[in-house]
Amino acid sequence: MNTKIIRITFLSLFMLLLTNTAGAHGINIIPKPLKCELKERKGFTINSKTKVIYHPELASQASLFVDYIYAPTALKLNKTQGHKPEKNSILFALDNSIDNEEGYNLTVSDKQIIIKSKSAAGAFYAMQSLMQLLPPEIESKQLKEIDLTVPVIFIEDAPTFKWRGAMLDVSRYFFSKEFVLKYIDMMSLYKLNTLHFHLIDDAGWRLEIKKYPLLTEVGGFRGEGENRTGGFYTQEDIKEMVAYAEARGIVIVPEIAFPAHVLSGVVAYPWLSCREEQLKVLTQHYISKDLICPGKQTTIDFLKDVLEETCELFPSKYIHIGGDEAVYQYWNNCPHCQKLLKEQGLEKSSQLQGYLTNLVADMAAKHNRTIVGWDEILERGKVTKPVVSMIWRNMNNLDHVYNQGHKAVLCPTSHLYFDTPESRLPSEIKAATWLAPISLEKCYSFATEKFEGDSVIIGLQAALWGDQFIFGTLLQELDLLDENRSENYVEYLMLPRLMAMSEIGWTPSQMRNYEEFFPRVLNHFKRLDNAGFTYRVPSPDVKHTKVDEGYMIELSTPLDNATIHYTTNGERATPYDKLYTAPFQVNQLSDVRAVTALTKTHHSVPTFFTENYDAYKQYGTFAKRVRYNEVTDQNTVDLTGKINADGEYQITIVALTDGVDVAIGEIEIMKNNDKTSGTAINSIIADKPVSGKFIISEWQAGTPYSAVMKLNAGQNNRGNIAVFIKKL
Ligand code: ACM
Ligand code: ZN
Repeated sequence: MNTKIIRITFLSLFMLLLTNTAGAHGINIIPKPLKCELKERKGFTINSKTKVIYHPELASQASLFVDYIYAPTALKLNKTQGHKPEKNSILFALDNSIDNEEGYNLTVSDKQIIIKSKSAAGAFYAMQSLMQLLPPEIESKQLKEIDLTVPVIFIEDAPTFKWRGAMLDVSRYFFSKEFVLKYIDMMSLYKLNTLHFHLIDDAGWRLEIKKYPLLTEVGGFRGEGENRTGGFYTQEDIKEMVAYAEARGIVIVPEIAFPAHVLSGVVAYPWLSCREEQLKVLTQHYISKDLICPGKQTTIDFLKDVLEETCELFPSKYIHIGGDEAVYQYWNNCPHCQKLLKEQGLEKSSQLQGYLTNLVADMAAKHNRTIVGWDEILERGKVTKPVVSMIWRNMNNLDHVYNQGHKAVLCPTSHLYFDTPESRLPSEIKAATWLAPISLEKCYSFATEKFEGDSVIIGLQAALWGDQFIFGTLLQELDLLDENRSENYVEYLMLPRLMAMSEIGWTPSQMRNYEEFFPRVLNHFKRLDNAGFTYRVPSPDVKHTKVDEGYMIELSTPLDNATIHYTTNGERATPYDKLYTAPFQVNQLSDVRAVTALTKTHHSVPTFFTENYDAYKQYGTFAKRVRYNEVTDQNTVDLTGKINADGEYQITIVALTDGVDVAIGEIEIMKNNDKTSGTAINSIIADKPVSGKFIISEWQAGTPYSAVMKLNAGQNNRGNIAVFIKKL
């Protein structure tokens, strides 16, 4: 064997060992690149002489890079158009030989950095990988001491799915243009490429349409007097957002919702609906039954006009038309709708939705656009034009897509609805309690393997609904979210789950592993701190061991810059409580509460040893514990998420301990703040459980439900009770 061969063999072995080193050796890129060969930790250092050389089509990305470096360092790199790498340069080059439209190669040597991509989006993603090879302070907007050394590395990368989306609902809560740009920044950190912009719903119309000014002047606002809130985006705002997103590899897909979820439009122009009543924009979450009326030519003209202005503003190939959660009672009773139904030879009013979908799909095709709709669109009459179904309710709804030759984007409530809480911990953010919690791990576990390479499945998307932000509902105080609460809520709900969404959309299944992903997520928290984003901090891990008189408690956190604080009297823990330094002993597990704190205002929700209610399983789901000193004649039990369909329910109150002496009278069941049902128990709770039944009709997803119980404690009451709820 000659030495040359030996050298090549050793080199290949070395290369093999170094392939796919993301996660190891401190390479923490999210989403994990397809191929990542780290050669040396120390490599190229960006300095004041480093030149940025760029292809003219990549001017925006080169400028963004210069700005990104400048913000925390005050180092203004020179840039110049060109095609050849030089010593001490960063080259942004186009390379048509790269297969994937969004793919890129990033080569760092000790002399220069070369970025090759097929498109501007690819160049942007390469730049984001490069940013993630620099220290986390590079994300800061303030001056910092930063070592601008990038390791010697070769990355070859491309996404698995074409549509890697995040939805933002700006109707239920109006987010400022500045916040939308920040949301785009957040998406861009993780190479997402589609912002699904939910601009219209019952609670507000946010898109200026010049031909119908009342849509925003009237439909953009709700409430009276000092409770009046709202706003909208001018067409100039939209152009700015579209350009801002485009420079970051992101397309904005607008959603023009119909036939339901459009009360704000109907309030502005009552002739859009069947009833033509002058209604008000909703101030509580509720899904209006006032659909737009497909039986009138004025409605069709309206859709055509709105679509035309929308297509002028948004270059996106796709336009979302909503289509979810319509009920057809007003169509059933409308002469215009019924006349159309007969003319079209249809049997049911719901099929008129399919008629409308086809009509708008045709209109969109004239603008070279394809329509996207929530998965109901393929169930309401026959859709003959090719459309994209956004699968949200149930993955089985994909059957229609395959059987009828359409395409799909997957946005299942089970894994990708980020308005859900991450856990069932008692102090956890309430958000969309009508769905089960979705932890980071659950989101990351979404099984995409069988869809990878499937030409029908365009991609994946996370949803962030705003119905919990609407004035007067569930938005609760969390210490860390005091200022700009609603905006901080969004960040808290999106991060870190957006990182999981990013990786399942980008990195093939066989390269994904949660144990390897989670440390990278933790590593990114410092980036988020620097970039000014709020995120959910994991609660401390707890180990307990039984000892003679109680339990030894050991607390830990994987965060190297966090402290743990705890209480041992069952009271909520805060970062001002006792600092954890060593294991300690308690009598009962339920005495312990502990938080992980990054700062006094940024901390986790407290860990909790939940009481075990298994003995009461026959009464259904646990809803509330009322301690002996908490008995009042207006005791509210949150039932959101526990009432989750129409039907008959049983509410049961049990004594958890001895010494209970509580009288219970009426129980009112509230939907939002209005009584919707009720039951009267009129009994004493002592050692036997007491129950009452009630009926729920017209249940609506996302709407808060509660029970208000009239309780009265006897003089000697010293026991605790609990409330359970069961669907019969
Ligand atoms: C939806 O969540 N109504 C699509
Ligand atoms: Zn009608």
